[in-house]
Amino acid sequence: MRIPFLRPRPAALSQLVTELRAIEGSGVYSNYGPVNSRLEEALTNRLFGGLGGCLTVNCATTGLILAIRDAAKSSSERKFALMPSFTFAATAHAAIWAGLTPLFCDINPETWTMRECDVEGLLESYRERISCIVPYATFGNCVDLDFYDQLASKYDVGVVIDAAASLGSVDQQGRGFGAGFPHAVVYSMHATKLFATAEAGVIHCGDADRLARLRAMGNFGFGSSRVTTMPGLNSKLSEVGALLGLAKLDHFKDVVASRLTLADSYKAHLPGFTFQRVVGQRIAYGFLPVLLPAALSGQRSELVAAMSRQGIGVRHYFSPHLAEHPFFATLCQTSNLTVTQDISDRILSLPMSDTMTNEEVGIVCATLLNALEFVA
Ligand SMILES: Cc1ncc(COP(=O)(O)O)c(C=O)c1O
Repeated sequence: MRIPFLRPRPAALSQLVTELRAIEGSGVYSNYGPVNSRLEEALTNRLFGGLGGCLTVNCATTGLILAIRDAAKSSSERKFALMPSFTFAATAHAAIWAGLTPLFCDINPETWTMRECDVEGLLESYRERISCIVPYATFGNCVDLDFYDQLASKYDVGVVIDAAASLGSVDQQGRGFGAGFPHAVVYSMHATKLFATAEAGVIHCGDADRLARLRAMGNFGFGSSRVTTMPGLNSKLSEVGALLGLAKLDHFKDVVASRLTLADSYKAHLPGFTFQRVVGQRIAYGFLPVLLPAALSGQRSELVAAMSRQGIGVRHYFSPHLAEHPFFATLCQTSNLTVTQDISDRILSLPMSDTMTNEEVGIVCATLLNALEFVA
């Protein structure tokens, strides 16, 4: 039996012929068109309880660039973007494109999001040199947004949340993660994400002025009359991309629920393993991250190869972590990353998909346990 790491499942365009014909008939293919407006409204209402608003982007990376550029407090001294090293390359690339230098911060050993005491410690020691904080809501886990909002005022810094994997995650109050937050929260709708389209992303924000600014920045920085009044690029989502988003939204609740069942099943099959501590009511799982026992971290590539020989796709996000990538190592600044190193060395990402069954989870776990005995 073959169990791939992911089975991307955007809505089938072949089932959307009527809607595609309507786009052809309208002659509108992009530029915040009517399908896009419907998607933004539907996302706001169905994932964020009607709070704030949504702005689609052609991918989360461009969304992050825009949001960081907008939030950054500029002065010749303020040049750092504080972020975890335990994240995807896009977080650091976005800060660099926005003109900042990533400063890597360690993570909490249980939640795997930036450790709050380290964040404050770095803000204190770097004082006026940090321009923006970019926390990553790791693997869809919630972060304490009030904490970051307070830091924004206390230290006069920008805040942008990288919530690439968080569409469908629910916070402690039962709201979609990020709902109504006054700073930009950026989500991915890439084909490999739980909210799968092809290439797309969305910025959610409770501050209508900020969202309007980001919308204009995403359209070449045009003010009302196609005159550039601010920094800009083209981040617009096509109408076909928006259609894929609307169609995914139809069954999204079921997708999230079925993956929660799979995550529970994984945890039941792997007693004694360390999983990420869930903050908030619910993580929308893209895959299932788990830590190997420390003594076996050196055998991880052997283990992945052994599982691959059995037809099971396993990854290790995020290893290497960003400070270990040659490009970022030369360009970025690093603080003490002891926990990041430990988690990154031991992390294993187990497969999940919309169509995966509990039986398949059992097979993955049995194969993992066998392979562990083999490599130990
Ligand atoms: C943490 C993180 N940030 C940003 C991105 C970028 O998302 P996109 O592919 O939509 O640009 C990803 C994509 O996987 C991600 O994992």
